[in-house]
Amino acid sequence: MATSAAPPQKDKLIFAPGATDSTTTDNNNQPTPQRAAQFQLSRLSRPSLSPSPFTQFHTWFTHPALTHSVPETTTLSTAHLPSGRVSSRVVYLKELDARGFVIYSNFGTSRKAADIATNPFASLCFWWKDVERQVRVEGRVERLTDQESQVYFDTRARGSRVGAWASRQSSVLTPRAEPDADTAPHQGEADAEVDDGRAELDAQVAEVQARFVGQEHIPVPPFWGGLRIVPETVEFWQGRESRLHDRFRYTRVDAVGSGEGSGEWKIERLSP
Ligand SMILES: Cc1cc2nc3c(=O)[nH]c(=O)nc-3n(C[C@H](O)[C@H](O)[C@H](O)COP(=O)(O)O)c2cc1C
Repeated sequence: MATSAAPPQKDKLIFAPGATDSTTTDNNNQPTPQRAAQFQLSRLSRPSLSPSPFTQFHTWFTHPALTHSVPETTTLSTAHLPSGRVSSRVVYLKELDARGFVIYSNFGTSRKAADIATNPFASLCFWWKDVERQVRVEGRVERLTDQESQVYFDTRARGSRVGAWASRQSSVLTPRAEPDADTAPHQGEADAEVDDGRAELDAQVAEVQARFVGQEHIPVPPFWGGLRIVPETVEFWQGRESRLHDRFRYTRVDAVGSGEGSGEWKIERLSP
């Protein structure tokens, strides 16, 4: 039986992954579905929404189906000005309150640090596959104070606190100089013998460990801490069949950049 599937795209390493595969057929000669491509779990409607995007987010975040996943995993995007170049990376959401969404990171050497030094706007994007939901947060960022960051920093394992001091996040680690011919590993010896830059990181860690040896309390590094994304918009997306998804966007009623304001939000349904 003829199908409307596209011809094989031999020049492409990836093409329409997860789509119906026309090369394999079932007993009725029908193309075999490779994986569920439809969103059918739930629906979202205006009356069910909280007036506050923070409460709505909390309700979604604590859904029992997400207990065994890591719902705090989110993509943080920032943009450099004036180049306009955008960068994204996965981070963990660590705090949420009525002011905004807080993540922790290095603000000395990382790319996100360089971006927000030129442009204080950022976005977060959460994808929760188990409930077929996405949340997008957009707004202005603000750094937490050292005192605020210290509270979270103290909850981290000692190794992670040392690591935060040791890592000049996203800076290039330089391999040790090549050993001379007499001491160079012979062909076939373990690659692990050849330093690729990891030794520089290990040395930085050892230095920090020595600095704080015997000291239980480690202060939060001045170049590390919390970043709050104070949302201007938050969108809740519930996958629906035939890509006719339910989407609701909360927009802060106050003018952009006017701070927390009245705390009122406009809620609009968006076309999928
Ligand atoms: C699951 C996961 C969680 C992560 N959590 C964080 C985090 O909370 N903070 C952080 O700075 N980097 C985190 N990272 C590393 C970042 O993705 C990224 O490599 C790092 O922040 C440097 O990015 P930048 O130089 O673009 O700013 C995480 C990575 C993964 C895969």
